[in-house]
Amino acid sequence: MFRLSALSTRQAVQRLAVQARHQSTISTAAASSMTAKNVSMAATGVATVGAIAYMSMETVDANMAADGLHPPVYPWDHKKNLATFDHAAIRRGYQVYKEVCAACHSLDRIAWRNLIGVSHTEAEVKAMAEEFEYTDGPNDVGDMFQRPGKPSDYMPKPYANEEQARAGNAGAYPPDLSLMIKARHGGADYVFSLLTGYQDPPAGVEIREGLNFNPYFPGGAIGMARVLYDGLVEYEDGTPATTSQMAKDVTIFLSWAAEPEMDERKKMGMKALTMLALLTGLSVYLKRHKWAGLKTRKILYNPPAPKKH
Ligand code: HEC
Repeated sequence: MFRLSALSTRQAVQRLAVQARHQSTISTAAASSMTAKNVSMAATGVATVGAIAYMSMETVDANMAADGLHPPVYPWDHKKNLATFDHAAIRRGYQVYKEVCAACHSLDRIAWRNLIGVSHTEAEVKAMAEEFEYTDGPNDVGDMFQRPGKPSDYMPKPYANEEQARAGNAGAYPPDLSLMIKARHGGADYVFSLLTGYQDPPAGVEIREGLNFNPYFPGGAIGMARVLYDGLVEYEDGTPATTSQMAKDVTIFLSWAAEPEMDERKKMGMKALTMLALLTGLSVYLKRHKWAGLKTRKILYNPPAPKKH
C-alpha cells in the first residue's frame, strides 16, 4: 500500500516536471494564465497525493516486532546454482543436532539411512543407529519388544507426544526440525540469525519469566533459551566450535534435511540443460537444412509462345 502511494507520488512529481518543461515553450501571455492554473492544479495534486500517502502510512503495522527483525541475507554456498551442500558442514551440523537440539527437537522425516553417503559411511550409520532402542513387534506370541536401531529406522524423538514436549518446555512446543528451513520466512538466514541472535532485551521491553528475548523471533519473546555457546561441542575435524560456526553447521544440516535431493536435482538439471542445448543446436540445423530447398526456390512463369496462324 505504502509502496503504491510512493509510486504515485513519484509519478506526480514527474508529471510536474513535464509540465514545467512545456511551460518554457508557451508564449508569455498565455503562459502567465496557464502558469497560475497549472500551479493551482499542481498544488491540489500534491495535496491529494500527500493526503493519500499520509493515510496509507497510517496502515503500516505499528508493532513491527510482531513480524520479527528481518534476517540479513547470508552467502550460503549451497544456494549457488552450481554448488552442492558442504558435506563436511552437514557432518558437523549433525553432531550439533545430536548433541544439542535433539534433546528437545525431533527430526521425523530423516531416517538413519539418509545419512549414508551424505555425511557418514554405512558402518558409522549402523553403529549410530544401534545406540538407540526401538520398539518393534509384535513377535510370535503377540508381544512388542525392544531392539537396537537399524539404518531403516527414523531418528528417535525426544518426547513421546506433544503434551509431554510442552510440559518439559514451560508450555512451548519445540517444533519438528525436518522442514524448518522451508517452513519459515527467510529459511536458513532466519534459523542462523535466531540461533545467534539472543541478547538482553532493550530498555523498556519486558520479557515474561521463562521466555527469552530474540529480535528475529516474531514477537521478540521465544520459549527456547539460547542453546549454543562457544566450545559446546568438540568437532572431530578440529574446526573451532564457536557459536556462529555451530549455528552455521546446524543450519546447513537442517537445509540438507529439508531438501536432501538438492545435490542430485542440480546434477540432473545440468544434464538436462546440456542435452537440451545440444538438441536445440541440432534442431536449428535440421530446420534450416529442410527448409533450405523451399526458401531458396524461384518460381518462374513462362507464358506459352503465341500461336502461329
Ligand atoms: C531445551 C530445549 C531446546 C533445545 C535444546 C533446542 N530448542 Fe529449539 N525450541 C525449543 C522450544 C521450546 C521452541 C518453541 C519456542 C516458542 O514457540 O516460543 C523452539 C523453537 C525452535 C525453532 C522455531 C522457531 C520458530 O520460528 O518457530 C527453531 C528453528 C529451533 N528451535 C531450532 C533449534 C536448534 C537448531 C537447536 C539446536 C542447536 C535447538 N532449537 C535446541 C526448545 C529447544
